[in-house]
Amino acid sequence: MAKTSAAGRIAELRRTVDYHNHRYFVVDDPEISDAEYDLLLRELQELEAEHPELQTPDSPTQRVGATPVDAFQPVRHPVALLSLANAFDLDELTAWHARTSKLLEGEPFGMVCELKIDGLAVAITYEDGMLVTGATRGDGETGENVTQNLRTVRSIPLSTPPGQSPRRFEVRGEVYMPRSGFERMNRQRAEAGQPLFANPRNAAAGALRQLDPKSTASRPLDIFVYSLGWSDDAMPGNHWDTLKRLADLGFKLNPHNRLCGAVEEVEDYFREWVEKREELDYGIDGVVIKVNSFELQARLGEVGRDPRWAIAYKFPATQAVTRLLDIRVNVGRTGSLNPYAILEPVNVGGVTVKMATLHNEDDIRRKDLRVGDWVVVERAGEVIPQVVEPVLDRRTGKEKKFTMPRRCPVCKTKVVRLPGEAMHYCVNTSCPAQLIQLLKHFVGRGMMDIDGLGESLALAFIEAGLVRDVADLYDLTVEQLQGLERMGEKSSRNVIDAIAASKSRPLDRLIFALGIRHVGGETAKLLAEAFPSLDALSKAEAEELAEVPGVGPKIAESIAAYFGEERNRRVIERLKQRGVDPRHEVRATEGPQPLAGLSFVITGKLDSMSRQAAEETVRSLGGTPQGNVTKKTSYAVVGAGAGSKLQKAQQLGIPLLTERQFLEMAGRE
Ligand code: IVH
Repeated sequence: MAKTSAAGRIAELRRTVDYHNHRYFVVDDPEISDAEYDLLLRELQELEAEHPELQTPDSPTQRVGATPVDAFQPVRHPVALLSLANAFDLDELTAWHARTSKLLEGEPFGMVCELKIDGLAVAITYEDGMLVTGATRGDGETGENVTQNLRTVRSIPLSTPPGQSPRRFEVRGEVYMPRSGFERMNRQRAEAGQPLFANPRNAAAGALRQLDPKSTASRPLDIFVYSLGWSDDAMPGNHWDTLKRLADLGFKLNPHNRLCGAVEEVEDYFREWVEKREELDYGIDGVVIKVNSFELQARLGEVGRDPRWAIAYKFPATQAVTRLLDIRVNVGRTGSLNPYAILEPVNVGGVTVKMATLHNEDDIRRKDLRVGDWVVVERAGEVIPQVVEPVLDRRTGKEKKFTMPRRCPVCKTKVVRLPGEAMHYCVNTSCPAQLIQLLKHFVGRGMMDIDGLGESLALAFIEAGLVRDVADLYDLTVEQLQGLERMGEKSSRNVIDAIAASKSRPLDRLIFALGIRHVGGETAKLLAEAFPSLDALSKAEAEELAEVPGVGPKIAESIAAYFGEERNRRVIERLKQRGVDPRHEVRATEGPQPLAGLSFVITGKLDSMSRQAAEETVRSLGGTPQGNVTKKTSYAVVGAGAGSKLQKAQQLGIPLLTERQFLEMAGRE
């Protein structure tokens, strides 16, 4: 592409990618699929590679890329980051409000209530619309320069809309790790035998302090921006409107911020979030209340490091000390032996905790937990309570060390621990403990979705010898179910109907339902796109599987191993005989259909083929060739001398493909 048109296309692609990035990571409401997004990003990467002189640091391709550093440089904060005084109960909150009222001589004041996010404070500076520095809080005066790491957090904009933002300004916010991401990461670390993070906050701190930005990029960090630090140009005169301006500039704000007038509204906000905090995918440890007007904030001033105009109203403590009564082991769906703690029931932040996960044997060793210990239990940001550490002072010497059982606690088969793995496994695939977990998974929502078939009924099937694998479900009869405890004719019939209805679930759900190690819902979707049936998938070699975009060698090995088991192949065959054999819907004809569901306009002269031939290619791969560009066109393939159709496509924002990209998509290159 000529340099001028490349520059134009690059600018356009950056705008489009930034826009979709914002939809996905900031607003949480994407408009295009991941695949479409990847295609845009790839085109941008290719163009930038062809024209390195057009590369700029704010390009969405430049999030990860900086080389590792030896140490973080200190950064002085132009305006110090303050901390917050705490209120621990309602009296302290009311006292703060009364004191503030008095200092303001009775002048009414609005307050902004925010959630107190349990992460790390950062300050990010923008100059001429570009992110230039990102720093940790440090001691409030001087922090560490973690710019390259913060750039990898995709909800942090690398640039702000030109002409709308102050020339230089700083935003402040809390970087955190979502609970779901934290748990996923710890699960992976447990499986790999790596040390675990105690809570999402520590994990976020660790991620932000990686010397190699690539390591930071691989961890699920996110941010909520909660204030403007300073600005060169005029900004609104109060906090609430400033937050709105920051949202307009593309920053991610917490959606639960609330403007309140009376202290009673603040109390409501607090009570609401004490209750609802578990529903959030991130940890909060209280709410922050800030006087809204900047003028009143200035009048109130500070005492030491704490502003008088704000206060943190903290939730009740989420740590408690209790006795570790026992360590038991359950067997998971994949046969993994999962140790967990039986605790003397204790109230932790309003919830009674009786059990906690212990991950694996190494983790128990590392923490040196012994049965009989007094232990610190935490429910800090994570859904599952954690045993943090033993209270060594309270040891009597009677505590007992834990060792993994040599045999499966359920079926008594010898357990194995494979080299390099942290988990112990029961390798008996017909172990009832595995079967019950597998059945629970198989019938669950998002899998085969069999209504009315819960854990107790699944267990009853197994105990009565009616079900030895998932295919057996499809042989069950109303009479058999009626013979089970608490099953009447009507409920039995409902369950049988629900089982029959599950035969029509799409292929990806069935793949997910099988419970193949490392194959979640997303991977299952990719596999269903690439293979027309379970049969075809089961015959694929590991190398072939690894070629499916998004499926790496580890997943491929796991799938191949699954179908390599004679027992599993039999189950698949029996499922098929019973009518559980979905096909991928869009594959109407033989052969791969990578363009299914997509429409293409070919415009201009292509190098390697005529337009007719290109249209035929589209058709043969399941796509639809179109004569004219419309809003619904998926792609315009642009050859030499393209004219009005190209213009129309650009106007409508239709993604453009070069001939090479088109051939790649069609698998012809
Ligand atoms: S405002 C004077 N707002 O809490 C204002 N802080 O102890 C100081 N934090 O270091 C910060 N969520 O890391 C503010 N919505 C929020 C916050 C928040 C979490 C953290 C922040 C700060 C600490 C203050």
